[in-house]
Amino acid sequence: MYEQVSHSLLNAILDDLKPEISRQDLRHFYTRLGANFYAIYSLFFNLYGHRKDFKPQMQRLVETMAKGYINRSAELERVDIERELDHNWFLSQKWVGMALYTNGFAENLDDLADKTPYFQELGINMVHIMPILMCPAGKSDGGYAISDFRKIDDRIGDINDLRRVAEEFRKRDILLVLDVVLNHTSDEHEWAEKAIMGERRYQDYYFMFDNREIPDMFEQSMPDIFPESAPGNFTWNADMQKWVMTVFHDYQWDLNYSNPEVFIEMLDIILFWANQGVDVLRLDAVAFLWKKIGSSCQNERNAHLILQLMKDCCQVSAPGVLFIAEAIVAPVEVIKYFGEDAIIAKECEIAYNATLMALLWDGIATQNAKLLYQGLKNLPDKLERATWLNYVRCHDDIGFGFDDNDVLAAGYESFAHRKYLVDYFSGQFEGSPARGMVFMRNDATGDARICGSLASLAGLEAAAESGDPDLISAAVNKILLLHSVILSFGGIPLLYNGDALGVVNDYSYRDDDSKSNDNRWIHRPKINWERAELRKKQGTVEYSLFSALKKMIAIRKETSAFADFNNRELLDVNNEHLLCFIRFNYLRPSERVLVIANFDANPQYLDLDVISGRGINLYGQFVDLYTGRSPAQYDRRIVLQAYQFYWLTEI
Ligand code: GLC
Repeated sequence: MYEQVSHSLLNAILDDLKPEISRQDLRHFYTRLGANFYAIYSLFFNLYGHRKDFKPQMQRLVETMAKGYINRSAELERVDIERELDHNWFLSQKWVGMALYTNGFAENLDDLADKTPYFQELGINMVHIMPILMCPAGKSDGGYAISDFRKIDDRIGDINDLRRVAEEFRKRDILLVLDVVLNHTSDEHEWAEKAIMGERRYQDYYFMFDNREIPDMFEQSMPDIFPESAPGNFTWNADMQKWVMTVFHDYQWDLNYSNPEVFIEMLDIILFWANQGVDVLRLDAVAFLWKKIGSSCQNERNAHLILQLMKDCCQVSAPGVLFIAEAIVAPVEVIKYFGEDAIIAKECEIAYNATLMALLWDGIATQNAKLLYQGLKNLPDKLERATWLNYVRCHDDIGFGFDDNDVLAAGYESFAHRKYLVDYFSGQFEGSPARGMVFMRNDATGDARICGSLASLAGLEAAAESGDPDLISAAVNKILLLHSVILSFGGIPLLYNGDALGVVNDYSYRDDDSKSNDNRWIHRPKINWERAELRKKQGTVEYSLFSALKKMIAIRKETSAFADFNNRELLDVNNEHLLCFIRFNYLRPSERVLVIANFDANPQYLDLDVISGRGINLYGQFVDLYTGRSPAQYDRRIVLQAYQFYWLTEI
């Protein structure tokens, strides 16, 4: 690819711009387009250069970007410029997120805007509002089967309500995160309906086959995502007399990104939401964007090229907007969503750290941090200007997708260990206090995942029923321990709706036919705001959790060593119950915080001799940032209670 070719193409495109576009003041747009055009052209050519309509599609692409730029408000453009000047802004320790369903947190978007003070009370300044767009009733996959990418579900509000939320948030320096479901549409989306009516143009938006020949070839290497409720990856459509690719549920049709029109439509949607004041877009299921016979149809190289192209285009029209990659895949694969072969993040600036999440749960089930240590040791380094979204629970199930080599290195047998975890969290293992449920057991592979709220998985539901104060306090301490890691690890911590209040499983989904076959609903609760008032009443579980998390969040925000600049050193401490790492201030490396987390139900100690030479003064005096007290210490050993954590600095 020659730069000259791209330059002359750009000139030709600009000459041909529609008059309503070329008449506008496009100064910043042109600067950014010029800077990014070679990359955009190369990626677009790589994906679609073989097509006869390449040039007109390229023209449409540029016009879509220009339209996105023109529709951006002056206020958002100001934010873009501010963020360009401070391009590492989101790596600061100041950000703390929460994910929630609108109708789980509030009545609707308007009510959510009214409840903004709750976020401030806790210290949350990034809110992921789970999907809010139109989905067919009973076939929504929790909002991820969208029938109109520009229309908000009228049960929760309209675009004006969302604008109000965005304004309230912006006034208070809270970031708004929304989903864009890139991989599929509902089978009731206009494109799908037109395809069903026989319109060829829209049939080409999806993967459709007249008979099983090609679907059968795909199936040979494609895993089942929902083996219990939606086995297979293709669904027969009687109206069209065709098989349609449906990787998730049979009503979620996979979009075909080998068609440039699909790419351009989805870019247009991305820019539409960027222009509503969204700061961060969560790109759903990105690992699935490219389908290739003979592969698992996940993590394909072209899926990365599509994301790079999306990012480059967004960089031109709405550069202040960040992308989160939702790719719940193996650690070596997930890291690539920051940008394959790049130095600085070139795809998504943020990615879910599913590895840490699953490893933390392993620590809880085994009371042991050896797999956690092993897995984190092998977590590949991330790129510059990239960061993790660190979470304990989210709206989805927990899969124990850690690397088998790590499981072996930790001294476990892979199959038996995973079975133990599933049994432990589903409460089938004798003595386990967890109240989770098995999700999508796959008899063919032996795989199974787990659902359940954080509180119920950590034993709070069972403890509260028993009324035993020791069990209750153990569960509370486990919840705080898990948060102590995600708040200090490096990256943006993402709390989940209800977890700061200890909300347990919600079993009501069983009575709802549209939810009863998907037990992820067990951990998508509706907050009882009367009960939530208990967070202000000392002596309640709600108070213990909420006040502790609020304090931890406040401390995190003041601790520069917790910003994310590859400034973490994992320590091998010769005590397998402890997870231990050092965070240091990247500007003043002598400013250090020693994080120690005890996963055991018994007290444990850290031998300071073992970590000598790591910049920690063995004879120094420590203070715990969280309690403000010096840790219990004897004989150069730091002692931790069951499930205790420390954030230690030297004084
Ligand atoms: C993502 C969502 C999940 C949904 C899936 C299919 O993984 O988090 O809830 O089921 O995509 O859209």
